[in-house]
Amino acid sequence: MVHASFTSMLAFFLFFSSGCATAPKVEDPYSFGVELMADSSPESAQNEGSSPATAHTAAQEIPLVGLRGLAAAYHLDFGVAVAFKALSISKYAQIVSSEFSTLTPENEMKWQYIHPVAGSYELFFGDQLVQFAQSHQMKVRGHTLVWHNQLPRWVSESVTTEDALLKLVTEHVSTIVGHYRGKIAKWDVANEVIDDAQGMRDTLFYRLSGTEFLSTAFRAAHEADADALLYLNDYSVEAINPKSNRLYELCKALLAQGVPLHGVGLQAHWDLDDLPSMSSVRKNIERFAALGLKVDITELDIRMKGAPTPERLRVQAEAYAALVRVVLDTEGSDSITVWGVDDGHSWVPQWMSSYGSALLLDGKYRAKQAYAAVVGELSNR
Ligand code: G3I
Repeated sequence: MVHASFTSMLAFFLFFSSGCATAPKVEDPYSFGVELMADSSPESAQNEGSSPATAHTAAQEIPLVGLRGLAAAYHLDFGVAVAFKALSISKYAQIVSSEFSTLTPENEMKWQYIHPVAGSYELFFGDQLVQFAQSHQMKVRGHTLVWHNQLPRWVSESVTTEDALLKLVTEHVSTIVGHYRGKIAKWDVANEVIDDAQGMRDTLFYRLSGTEFLSTAFRAAHEADADALLYLNDYSVEAINPKSNRLYELCKALLAQGVPLHGVGLQAHWDLDDLPSMSSVRKNIERFAALGLKVDITELDIRMKGAPTPERLRVQAEAYAALVRVVLDTEGSDSITVWGVDDGHSWVPQWMSSYGSALLLDGKYRAKQAYAAVVGELSNR
């Protein structure tokens, strides 16, 4: 059943009419949008300048000039991951639409939220994000159809055979991609299927079907929307290394089977103290492009440990600029998405407590040196 449930509509109404002051009590864990963000909104005390993640960033004011417009001159899409709940903050929403040309739902289209119960789809939050994007002439990147993470327990409890798994994957993918046919330009069909140490990641999908779940998912997506570009998305595969070699071999194998795979997403969640070599990133992009694949940077952020000193922010700015340069200079790559609008809405501090300051804007929506460096790269060519 495809529906926007009554509870979610109620949640939406209360959400906007209450100025987010109180969350309605509803059963659906995601019916109030991205609750995680409640604690990280710029209105919270944590982000009012007391956090180390926002220190040292206000030295000079850097104007926001509209990355999307600058990038468009190079046929580059500059996108952002967006949390539905945060769109109720007018400054956040205004920056999303003026700075970015592509929107990726940060969580709202993941299995746990969009298909929380067998046979029942919760499309309300995804629909809202798509509508926002359309009304601001933004493209949408769908994220993500098949992922071992944020997978509701009912899937592993009810699916025990390959046949049942492939049927479910087909239903899930066809329903969602079909619902958004013509509205979502690119889909991260499968996320993080390569293991960090060896081979494929050991997931329910892989255990029951080998790589068959991939061909099934890509074929179902292509059948549901023949115009959507279909991607494999992963992390730590930006440079040439054993993991990206495994991804490369998988892509070759899928293409050889005639699977409708159109691109790879290189996430690029980077640590400032452990940056990949840019020449290796460039060679990596080139080898995937030589397979006929598009190569998108899908989840860029560059985190730093501890307080962001001016020097660390300068090094971060150089790293952002260097990646933009590589993308602009390399055939086959024309899309960069940052994983969040600002440091107050970043997954990083919630997942790695001593890290932060990973994005282009600080927790008060002030542009950082990294933003200025990206503008510089997009202006001085
Ligand atoms: O929905 C629950 C809510 O019911 C509960 O009250 C709240 C309490 O913390 O948590 C809410 O769920 C959180 C969810 O984000 C939505 O806010 C989860 O705990 C939290 O773990 C989840 O984190 C997301 C993470 O993916 C999940 O793996 C991050 O926001 C999101 O930025 C991150 O994004 C991933 C990409 O999808 C794939 N690549 C890596 C990237 C970074 O981890």
